[in-house]
Amino acid sequence: MIYRRLGKSGLNISVVGIGTWQYGGEWGRSYTQNEVDAILQRGKDLGINLIDTAECYGDHTSERLVGQSIKHNRDEWLIASKFGHQFHANFSRTDRFDANSVLTQLEESLRSLQTESIDLYQFHSGSNESFDNAELWEMLNRQVAAGKIRHLGLSVSPNTNEFQVRKAVEYGISVIQIVYNRLDRAPEAEIFPNCQKNDLGILARVPLASGFLSGKYKPGTQFSNPDDVRSRREQNNIDEQLKEVAHIQQNEVPAGVDMAAWALAWCLRLPVVSGVIPGCKDPAQVEANASAIQLINTFG
Ligand SMILES: NC(=O)c1ccc[n+]([C@@H]2O[C@H](COP(=O)([O-])OP(=O)(O)OC[C@H]3O[C@@H](n4cnc5c(N)ncnc54)[C@H](OP(=O)(O)O)[C@@H]3O)[C@@H](O)[C@H]2O)c1
Repeated sequence: MIYRRLGKSGLNISVVGIGTWQYGGEWGRSYTQNEVDAILQRGKDLGINLIDTAECYGDHTSERLVGQSIKHNRDEWLIASKFGHQFHANFSRTDRFDANSVLTQLEESLRSLQTESIDLYQFHSGSNESFDNAELWEMLNRQVAAGKIRHLGLSVSPNTNEFQVRKAVEYGISVIQIVYNRLDRAPEAEIFPNCQKNDLGILARVPLASGFLSGKYKPGTQFSNPDDVRSRREQNNIDEQLKEVAHIQQNEVPAGVDMAAWALAWCLRLPVVSGVIPGCKDPAQVEANASAIQLINTFG
């Protein structure tokens, strides 16, 4: 594995982490504890030390599965979680970004994760109005001082939201999580230079463009399982993206190279990107994703 410093948080993260939205049930199926244990154990064996989860991947469901899985070696992992929503059912959640609600969510996340401290606690893709709230950040910085949170992060939405990134430093945030992949390079223009200037770590989320950049889906693919988040997307949009993927596969991915690994290495070719957090459904995907480290230097 290769490790990079996560901006001014100073955390030493594996460049390939594990995203765990999948365990919440919005990716077509639910997960047993044994399945999650096997995925995370494979990650550990390969030197991965970063797990990204959230309050609303199920009602703290993903956090509970992760917490139970790593309680025996908690100190060997870095946990990034998030706040800002009440989960009701799959694809149904309500924003909860006020300071009192977030404090309640933090306590529930600590319980679910079976830990005394969350390494990175991230504002979860909310509006500027929810974000620009000094009371919220004062409360969160008090939790940092109390040791319940080690570092604060911001999951930016939409992907070009310079306002939130500019304000991040003022609120004590040291890490930015943003959509970045071969199909979406928008953050390169303004957000990355701004992060670099302010020594903010960058976590690239959705680095496989929801699995499309694995190259296994061809134009015309339909995601018919209603429990799979991709079934909610416009078919036109899916087809367009898959056509672009086919073009990239043909023109950019060297023959014989696993496209998922290539796509992750493509993100990591920029030193400003501290790490990628691909969602992994089984140990084989973890393995393929971890192998991205062997390709990083193939980008000139
Ligand atoms: N902050 C936010 O608002 C936010 C939003 C989205 C995601 N996230 C975080 O970012 C993580 C990653 O994003 P994501 O899961 O949405 O998208 P992603 O990482 O781009 O894609 C994940 C999907 O790709 C497929 N896949 C993964 N590895 C593969 C491999 N080696 N070969 C072939 N297919 C592979 C799997 O689905 P199939 O096998 O079914 O194709 C998997 O569910 C999430 O898990 C979550 O932790 C955060």
